[in-house]
Amino acid sequence: MLDSYNRRITYLRVSVTDRCNLRCRYCMPEDGIHLLKHDEILSLEEIVEVIREGAKLGLKKIRLTGGEPLVRKGIVQLVEMINQVDGIEEIAMTTNGVLLNKYASDLKKAGLKRVNISLDTLDEKEFKSITRLGNLNDVKKGIVAAQNAGLTPIKINVVKTKFSNKQNIEAIEKFCKEEGLNIRFIHQMDLETGDFSVVEGGEGGNCKICNRLRLMANGDVKPCLFSNSGYNVKKYGIKEAFQLALGAKPEEGSMNQNHKFYNIGG
Ligand code: 5AD
Ligand code: SF4
Repeated sequence: MLDSYNRRITYLRVSVTDRCNLRCRYCMPEDGIHLLKHDEILSLEEIVEVIREGAKLGLKKIRLTGGEPLVRKGIVQLVEMINQVDGIEEIAMTTNGVLLNKYASDLKKAGLKRVNISLDTLDEKEFKSITRLGNLNDVKKGIVAAQNAGLTPIKINVVKTKFSNKQNIEAIEKFCKEEGLNIRFIHQMDLETGDFSVVEGGEGGNCKICNRLRLMANGDVKPCLFSNSGYNVKKYGIKEAFQLALGAKPEEGSMNQNHKFYNIGG
């Protein structure tokens, strides 16, 4: 798949649920969220079908995101099924790590290659304040489990906000160095105003080399994180939805008033 700016699309980010077991301040709005109903989200089989068609069009890499992907029932089976799809060379996941201790080893066996873990701080108090209901120890255990399972190289995603504490940032940098984890800093973004920047240590946010499309839990194929458009695979059919998203892929992101991080998965 080549888009209108000659970028080759090989990477699909798949949001498997809009639900999450945390409520990070920069991601989930305070006043509750509109969640998709069960019959609005694609089944595991439907997700695999989209990936199968996408692979025929040139997709090679899949990243599972959410919400929190590990709260989706059948997530291990899903990885197993995607791993059987011809043409898919790599399956990765972005997770908050809370449930990784439980799933890391099964995910590895199912064919998951590596994980990015979202963790902004190692300070218990700050962690609670950011995630509203997280327990830092669960994430730490999750990191160890991922290392033991060989879901490596592990990347730690740190969202930096204007409130981030400098010492805490240095502490997490040190921790990652000692533990052999890659660290990436993501500046807090605002979808509605189109405020975004390149991910330090990653490829996200660099429009010139963007090789990705997105599949939302409801079946919308989206050309860009910072775009309002999306084409539903149930409405248009899978191939057509891919072609429409490809054609609509903007040269650069602008803004997105229709989606939130919790349903697009960053
Ligand atoms: N700005 C930047 N990153 C965000 N994430 C969630 N909300 C935002 C935001 N407003 C990040 C999470 C996770 C990734 C999927 O997206 O921390 O690492
Ligand atoms: Fe959940 Fe990730 Fe959003 Fe935090 S950033 S609320 S862990 S989806």
